[in-house]
Amino acid sequence: MEHDETARLERLAGPEGTALLDRLAGTDRSGAAALRIGTALRRAHDAGLVADAMALAELRDRATAKFTRAGSMWFTRAGLEQASSEVIARHRAARYAGLGRLVDLCCGIGGDALALAAGREVTGVDTDPVHLWMARRNVAVHGGALRTVRCDVREADLSGADGAFVDPARRSSGGRMRSGDSEPPLEWCVGLTTRTDAVGVKAAPGIDHTVAPPGWELEFIALGRDLKEAALWSPALACSRSRASVLDADGTAHVLTGEPDPEDGDTGVPVVEPGRWLLDPNPAVTRAGLVTALADRTGTSRIDRRIAFLTAEDEPPGTPFARTLRVLDSRPWDQKRLPRLLRELGIGAVDVRRRGLAGDVDALTRKLRGRGPRRATVVMTRVEDRPWGLVCVDP
Ligand SMILES: C[S@@+](CC[C@H](N)C(=O)[O-])C[C@H]1O[C@@H](n2cnc3c(N)ncnc32)[C@H](O)[C@@H]1O
Repeated sequence: MEHDETARLERLAGPEGTALLDRLAGTDRSGAAALRIGTALRRAHDAGLVADAMALAELRDRATAKFTRAGSMWFTRAGLEQASSEVIARHRAARYAGLGRLVDLCCGIGGDALALAAGREVTGVDTDPVHLWMARRNVAVHGGALRTVRCDVREADLSGADGAFVDPARRSSGGRMRSGDSEPPLEWCVGLTTRTDAVGVKAAPGIDHTVAPPGWELEFIALGRDLKEAALWSPALACSRSRASVLDADGTAHVLTGEPDPEDGDTGVPVVEPGRWLLDPNPAVTRAGLVTALADRTGTSRIDRRIAFLTAEDEPPGTPFARTLRVLDSRPWDQKRLPRLLRELGIGAVDVRRRGLAGDVDALTRKLRGRGPRRATVVMTRVEDRPWGLVCVDP
C-alpha cells in the first residue's frame, strides 16, 4: 500500500506525469472545465495518473497562498493544510542562526524544513513515507537538501544535532490548545531539552500560556493582522518571556517583547477615558499579553484595565503593532442613538469591532448601514466597566 503510494508519486514525477502537470498548470480547471479536461486527458493517459495529476495541480494552486514556488512542490491535502507558510517558516528558522545541524521532527511535507535547510544540514523525521518523499523534493525545490528518517519521533536519534524543531500534529483545531492536544503531546516536545538545548516547538495560536515552562519564550506570529501561529522556544533560544511578531508579506518582521500582562489586569499603565485616538492592537500583541508593552512603546493609555484598546489625546507614533483610528465620537453605549449619530457624521458603511461587550456584530453591522459617503468603525467596548461606544475612522 505504502509502496503503491510512493510508486504513484514516482510515476507522477516521471516524464509523462511532468508533462501532464505542465499542461494543467495555469489552465482554468473550475467547474465544467475540469470535467472536460479530465475526459480529454484520459483519452491519451492512464486514468489513475490523470486523477493524481489533477489533484496535485489543484493543491499547487491552493498552495500559492503559502509558498512562492508552490507550482513545483508536492502536497497531500492534509500535508498542505498543516504546513507552515514559507514566510513564517523563514522567520522561525532565523532563530537557529549559528547552528549547523538540526533535526526537524514531524517534518510533514517540509514546509519548515525548506527554511531550516538553507545553509544547514537538516534531518527530517516523520512516520509518513509519502510526506518524507515530498519533503525531500520540496526542500530541493528551494535549493536545499534534506536527509530523512522514517520513524516515530520518540525514537529519533538526536546525537550530533545542534538543535531541534518540532511541529506536532494537532488533534483539535478550535479553542485553547492545551498540553494534550497534539501528537506527540506538548509536554513531550518541551521535554526534548533533556536531549538537545536549542528546541523550538510550533503550536496553535490558541495555546495556553501556562504550557510554556519557566525560562521558555512564547511567541505569537501574525501575517499582517492575521494571527497564524505560536511557537515555544527553549531557554537556549529564548530572548524574553513573551513575543509578538508581526510579519509583512515580504517577511519583514516587527517584534515586540516583554513580560505578559498580569491576569488581574493591574499593569501600572494609566487608565483614562478614550481620547481623540484609539489603538486596536494586533492580535499577536493581545495573545502575547503585551498590551502594556505596546502602551509603553507608543506613550498611550488603557481605556480599561482588562480591555486591550489603547488611547491618546495627541496622535500617537505610527506602529506596526496596532491599527490607529481617529475617534469621532465617544460616549457610554447607546445603541438607539447610534443611527442618528452616524447620519450626522455622514457615515454609510460601518465595521463593528467588539471587545468586552456582548452583541451580534453581523446583525449590528447590517442595522447600522446608512447612506453617508464615509466609512467608519463602530467600537463596542467597556470603559472602566461601563458599556461604551466609539465611532472611529481610519486617518
Ligand atoms: C503538523 S505536520 C508537520 C508540518 C510541517 N512542519 C510543515 O510545515 O510541512 C505533522 C506531521 O507529524 C507527523 N507525525 C505525527 N505524529 C508523529 C510521530 N509520533 N512521529 C513522527 N511523525 C509524526 C505526521 O505524519 C505529519 O506529517
